[in-house]
This record gives sequence, structure tokens and C-alpha cells, in this order.
Amino acid sequence: MVRAMSTLALTPDELLSSTRAVRKRLDLTRPVPEELVRECVQLAMQSPSGSNSMSMQFVVVRDADKRAAIGEVYRQCYGIYTKLDGVYIGSIDKGDEQANAQQRRSASSADYLGEHMGEAPVLVIACNTGRTDGQPGIAGASMMGNVLPAMWSLMLAARARGLGMCWTTLHLMQEQAVAEILGIPFESVQQVCLSPLAYTKGTDFKAAARPPADSIIHWDAW
Ligand SMILES: Cc1cc2nc3c(=O)[nH]c(=O)nc-3n(C[C@H](O)[C@H](O)[C@H](O)COP(=O)(O)O)c2cc1C
Repeated sequence: MVRAMSTLALTPDELLSSTRAVRKRLDLTRPVPEELVRECVQLAMQSPSGSNSMSMQFVVVRDADKRAAIGEVYRQCYGIYTKLDGVYIGSIDKGDEQANAQQRRSASSADYLGEHMGEAPVLVIACNTGRTDGQPGIAGASMMGNVLPAMWSLMLAARARGLGMCWTTLHLMQEQAVAEILGIPFESVQQVCLSPLAYTKGTDFKAAARPPADSIIHWDAW
């Protein structure tokens, strides 16, 4: 693959540990070249898919009116989310003051995106061909598994190029409204993730504080 754009000097571990949910540090004023988006998607297509089906699809929205319309849907959904006590990021008690301070910063960041989603120069919606609604677990897991690794690869490729993204799902409260804005056939194509895509203000992002690996590993049995 010919690489058109230069990448940041990050080791694999630095890339994996510094690809954050970027919201306040999205540069909403700087255009993102189409070729750069294509390059990230090309890398994302290296991700696995069941039976090598390659059923992942990306809708890349540059049109200002469509971005504004999607941003308004996201703003409305975000407003509903902020009222869900125990679900809203700003309402979760993490148990200690340091973790709660981090949680408050994340909530402030999420609140910001709630107001500014539509202003990002590019919006990316990851979709799967097929819907998981009412399907057995194996079908749902397989369909989601066909698209989610690709979306994460896209986010890693973007980070490596000085771009920031933020995984969001809240607009799915009104998935059909966004399907209509973009002409996505709702009956046969499921949206799974919406992300802004923009250059970041600065490129220094740090590893987040996370619990030790042993808190989630179940060696040999649950
Ligand atoms: C399935 C999923 C859904 C998410 N939905 C939203 C969302 O709707 N809005 C938002 O601002 N962030 C959303 N996030 C981002 C998380 O809030 C973020 O990953 C988390 O706070 C940790 O921050 P970090 O990714 O920078 O480490 C979502 C992340 C995941 C994986």
C-alpha cells in the first residue's frame, strides 16, 4: 500500500495506549483531506471478518448540511442520555476522588461533543450489512465482530496520522433519523458507531489510568 501521508513516531504500544476518545481537542476548523480518510479506511479493511465476508461499510460525511443535521440528532440523543442517572458518564461514582475527578473530566468532554458533533469536518458512521435485531447471539456477535475491529483499526490509523476520533453510539436512539439523512437502507444496514474525524490540537495523548489486567482475566475458568 502506498502511504500518502506521514505518520507520527509512535511505537505500537504507544499507539495502542494513546488512542483516546478525542472531543475538546478536535480541530473543528482544519479540513481533512479525502485521501487521508481513504488511507485510514484501506488499513481498516485489513481487519478480520467472519468467513472473510468483509461486510463492514463506512459512510463518510463531509457535506456540511448533513453533518449539521446529524449533529442535531446527536445533540437531542445526548440530552436524553444526560438524564439517565447511573448511565450518564457524569453520574457514575467511580469510588475514589482521583477516579471521580477523571470521570468529571470525561463527562465535560462528552458534554462538549454533545454540542459540537456536527461541526467536525468529517463524520464517520460504521455500518454492518445485515441487522442484529432479534437474531440469536451467534449471529449478533458475528455481525458486530465483522465491523467493530475495522472501526477500531480506523481509529488507530487516524491517531497515527495526527487525527482524532471518538467512538459514540448515542445517536442510535434515533438510528432511523440518521439513516434517512444519509439514505442508508435501514431495513438491511445497521449503524453501529458514529465518530467525528478531525486533526487533533497537538498530538501528545497519554495512556489512561486503567485497573490491572488481573482484575479482568479469568485464568482457566470464570
Ligand atoms: C460502545 C461505546 C460507546 C460509546 N458511546 C459514546 C457516546 O455516545 N458519546 C461519547 O462522547 N463517548 C462515547 N464513548 C466513548 C467513551 O466514553 C470513552 O471511550 C471512555 O470514556 C474512555 O475514554 P478513552 O477512550 O479516552 O479512554 C463510547 C465508547 C464505546 C466503546
